[in-house]
Amino acid sequence: MQSLKTALLGDLPAFTADPLAFVQEKVVGQPQPVAARFGFKTVRFLAQPSAIQHVLVTHADRYGKSQMQDRMKPLLGEGMVTASGERWHQSRTTARPSFSASGLDQGLGHALSVLQTEVGRLAGALDRSLAIPPLMGRLTLRMATAAMFHEPLDEDTSELVYQAGLAAHKRLSETMWRPIDPDALLPTRTNRAFRKVIASLEGVVERLSRNPKGLLLALQPLAERYGPKALRDEAITMLIAGFETSAMAASWLIYTLACRPDLVAWIRGEVDPLLEGGADLEAGGLRGLRRTRAVVDEVLRLYPSIWWFARVALEDDVIDGVAVPKGSMVFISPWAVQRQPDLWDQPERFDPMRFMSETTSGRFAYIPFGVGGRSCIGAHLAKAELVAIAAAITSAFDLEPLSGHVDQLRPVAGVTLAPPPVGLNVRLQMRDLTVRKVA
Ligand code: HEM
Repeated sequence: MQSLKTALLGDLPAFTADPLAFVQEKVVGQPQPVAARFGFKTVRFLAQPSAIQHVLVTHADRYGKSQMQDRMKPLLGEGMVTASGERWHQSRTTARPSFSASGLDQGLGHALSVLQTEVGRLAGALDRSLAIPPLMGRLTLRMATAAMFHEPLDEDTSELVYQAGLAAHKRLSETMWRPIDPDALLPTRTNRAFRKVIASLEGVVERLSRNPKGLLLALQPLAERYGPKALRDEAITMLIAGFETSAMAASWLIYTLACRPDLVAWIRGEVDPLLEGGADLEAGGLRGLRRTRAVVDEVLRLYPSIWWFARVALEDDVIDGVAVPKGSMVFISPWAVQRQPDLWDQPERFDPMRFMSETTSGRFAYIPFGVGGRSCIGAHLAKAELVAIAAAITSAFDLEPLSGHVDQLRPVAGVTLAPPPVGLNVRLQMRDLTVRKVA
């Protein structure tokens, strides 16, 4: 039976059983693209900078987004993630200023007030076990929506978007590797439930669009060109693309800090002077937090939320000496390239000092946000959120890990790197300021 399955499906069962173990064993350490058979298709895993540069930059015109993206279309429509050609170009160009470092300043102000309120609330949840992922899920969602739409969502709307985001990610994770997806074609219970999720997100976007601000205002030219559905598609795309990604990175960040009081002391050394005398965290101040940024960078190296993404060859090609016929898929894995032993000294070690010097392993060896024309438009926003969260939480609380040491925990790999089965739980205590010292 086992051999029949392997004969039919090739490497697919081994890959889906434990994707990270598969990639670690077969891809990490290999100097060239690695071929694997998924059913009748041969796919190639890329985890070397030269191959990544080839596909995403130098010969990006030879590759398109894969058909797997089409599974997301009922949810994301023709938004920036799923669109291609002129439509994608218009969408990216119209949205770009809202996501640039300077374009984000106003929105980040809104996000930082949300953070301050939420940290205040956490002070009411001391001395008990707190599950970090749902906490960070709600926090990053509220911060990102405040930053993008220039107003915080009310409590009920936030919760609705949060639950819809969870349901959408669950569905994408479940269906991602299915050769066919009956739920997409038939009115099954799953499909009907998913339609409800989509309708509730559409309702939120419709309400926000009545008085558009921030990104929704900036996107008006797109709506004029492609009709009002363009706003729905872009807004839902941003909510979904920015949701689980930031939430998971923030969860690994906070849990890592809970396990590493030495790092907490180190970043407090630069955060304390900034918040001296009860000052608020401001968008401008985040840029100077070099140590906190380095910790965030290292979290994104070891736990890149989007641990793989795919492209399809539009013509016959050769990558680093390996033939890639037209129509075949290539999988690019930030997780694998960011752990390559020839690129990173002791790759499994969490060491933010790697990001404190100018010399890193190079632009194509570190790709948590992708690279090239289709890299993450939300990268500045995500990093600013993560730096602010680390600064605000460590300056207010002492953290105790309750799910074991982070070095012993392995993420569960779906669409994003989810928490391990034991969870990521911490206990918070108000920081003991009598031992406060500037490192
Ligand atoms: C830690 C958080 C995040 C990570 C690790 C991340 C990662 C990525 C990666 C790797 C890609 C490239 C995928 C590819 O080339 O196929 C991408 C694309 C994208 N991301 Fe993010 N992302 C994050 C947060 C966000 C946020 C906060 C937003 C928006 C609010 C966002 C919106 C997008 C969009 C729209 C794209 C598609 C861009 C295009 O195709 O032009 N992301 N992201």
